[in-house]
This record gives sequence, structure tokens and C-alpha cells, in this order.
Amino acid sequence: MILNRLRLPTVSKLSQLAFARNYSRKDFAFVFDIDGVLIRGKDPIAAATPALELLNEHRVPYILMTNGGGVSEKAKADHIAKIVGVPISPWQIVQSHTPLRTLANDRKHNRVLCIGGVGDAVRHVAKSYGFEDVVLPIDIVKAIPSISPHHMFKQDDFDKYAIDIDVNVPFRAILVFNDPRDMSTDVQIVQDLLNSQDGVLGTKRKRRRLEDPAIPIVFSNSDVYYSNEYSLPRFGQGAFRIITEELYSHINQLRPHEAMSSLLCGKPFKLQYDFAHHVLIDWREMLITNKFEQPKYPLLGTAPTASPFKNIYMVGDNPASDIQGANDHGWESVLLRTGVYADEDLSSLEAQPTAGVFNDVYDAVLEILRVNKVKI
Ligand code: G3P
Ligand code: MG
Repeated sequence: MILNRLRLPTVSKLSQLAFARNYSRKDFAFVFDIDGVLIRGKDPIAAATPALELLNEHRVPYILMTNGGGVSEKAKADHIAKIVGVPISPWQIVQSHTPLRTLANDRKHNRVLCIGGVGDAVRHVAKSYGFEDVVLPIDIVKAIPSISPHHMFKQDDFDKYAIDIDVNVPFRAILVFNDPRDMSTDVQIVQDLLNSQDGVLGTKRKRRRLEDPAIPIVFSNSDVYYSNEYSLPRFGQGAFRIITEELYSHINQLRPHEAMSSLLCGKPFKLQYDFAHHVLIDWREMLITNKFEQPKYPLLGTAPTASPFKNIYMVGDNPASDIQGANDHGWESVLLRTGVYADEDLSSLEAQPTAGVFNDVYDAVLEILRVNKVKI
């Protein structure tokens, strides 16, 4: 439905062409953060609706890039569209774990332990990406309850979300999709596997002082804080990363200059900005051609070789992720006061925005359109 509403008007071939040409002429685009920019928890940020409507009206391409996730891109698009009241396509969504779909075809990532999210939602997301043998901590606890003595699962959770697994099959990787819901279980099982013999549960490798864990771990989001309805920022997936790294260092007696190795996705890392850049180019192409189909995803870690955009504006609320990443990877950065950042001294921030600080997303969009000589 939403995709249909996004299709170009079909009045006449000529008007379609004019519309497409308008899109193709734009050499700038927007990438919006979600939490603290468009919404806070379940509530919209009032400025989000007119800001996105203005861009639709002026046919400026934009996508949304969040460090959140735990659901499919379609579910996220529908969720945001419902809160903000503006149609959003799944092809406009980059969640923290969206780039992981590019790893799914690699047979060496079968079987994977997926962490985070509500119920068994991330199992469905991982399967939709193409991972075949997807295990969640609840499956392991169902099979071996004593592995997590203080787990919080009820019989109803096992009935609804757990599947029966052969616990002797080795794990090949751990993918942290989203914030843990039963932190104590996730902390325990992740450390068990990182320190196992080749990813087999119930084993413990003999060698210590290794920066490389027994199996690779991918953190899709390193935000220590994010913004919801509460008055102060809340801990995000980055807090789980810190706990995991600290425990790993402790168990492995790493020296102060040593650290557990891992693959990091999400903002502020290059891999994520490169992936989002591909998605933005694909989205622009869909708008121009009026064909809305699943794009071919790039190999992980490859930047586009050519781009129609002179400027990409990252609009965010978190200096450490949104702004830092944009500055590091050649985008313009725009900081808002509606989320993690409030009114701190700019010079004290991890990164300073290159295109200004604004009270909200509408103010920012208006100013950037003006700078790019769009007549409002
Ligand atoms: O858990 C979500 C959070 O870490 C950040 O979301 O949209 O501000 O990148 P966002
Ligand atoms: Mg944010």
C-alpha cells in the first residue's frame, strides 16, 4: 500500500518524465536518523511530518538510517510511517543490522547465534536475510536451562518463541542484532561461545590471552546511549558491547593495550555509511524509474564507485554516532536538539556538525533547502 502511494503520478508519460528529471537533477540528499530526530519512543517529533512532506513535495531523495533494529526493514518502515504519518518504503530503511544481509550467502556463517530484539523477531529477520541455521539464546536455554541459572523466560515464551535445536552443532558466528532483552542470559551464552573450543557449547578453549575470540562476533550498534520518551538518554546496544568486551578481557587476562576483536556495524562506522550511500543511490534510481524492487546489495565494506550526490546531509541527534560518522566519511552533518544532544558546549562534543545545529528537523530541512537554492 505504502509503496503504491510512493509511485509517481501516472497522469501522462510526459509529466512522469518531468518528475523523474526533477529527481535526477538533485545533487544533494538527506539521510535521517530516527530516534531523537523523527520519533521519541512511540511518539512522533512534531517537526518530522512537515519536514518529510516538504522533501516529498520538492522531490528531494532521502532515506532513514538508524542504529535501532530488531525487526524487518518493512516492519520498521510501516512503524515510522504510522507514527509520523508520511509513507516510507522499506527500501528507504537502513537499520543497524541491514548490512549483515550481505554476509548471509557466506556458508561459513551457518550456524549463527542472534542476539537481541523482542520475542523471536530477529530469527525472522536473519532468515529473511538468508541465514539458514539461526539460533536464539531462548532455544539454548530451552534445551539446557542450567546454562543460564537466572534466565527470565516463562513457559509461554518457550512455547511461542523457542525451537528445538541440536546443541552439539558448532556456532560459526555471533550476530548482535539489537539490544538484549534478557541481559544476564545473553552475557552468559555469548561469553560461553567466545571462549569455547571452536564454537561448541559446553567446551572451553585452553589458550588464554587471545584477542581473537573462538568465533567472530558482530555488533551492529555501538551506541552507548539513545533517546526515548524518558527525560535522560537510555543505555543502548553499545552498553552490551562494553560489558562483553570487559568480561572477555577479564576472562582472557588481556593486557591494557589489548582488546577483543570484533566486527562493528552501525553508525559511526564507514561500513554503514558506505552501505547507506548505496541504498540512497538505489532509492534515487527507484524514484526516477518508478520501479520499486529489491536492490542488489553491495559487498560489505565497498563504497560506491560513483555517486550522483555532491552533498549528503546526515541529520542526527547523537554527536558520537550520527555526526562523527558523517564527518569521518565525507558527508555533511546536521545536529538537532531533539534527542541525545541538548545544549552542551559544542566544543566538548566528540564531533562538531559541519552544517549547523537546529532546534528540530523541520528547521534543519528548511535551511538546507535554502542553501541548495530550492524555492520554497
Ligand atoms: O536503539 C536505538 C538507538 O541506539 C539509536 O537509534 O535512530 O537514534 O540511530 P537512532
Ligand atoms: Mg538518534
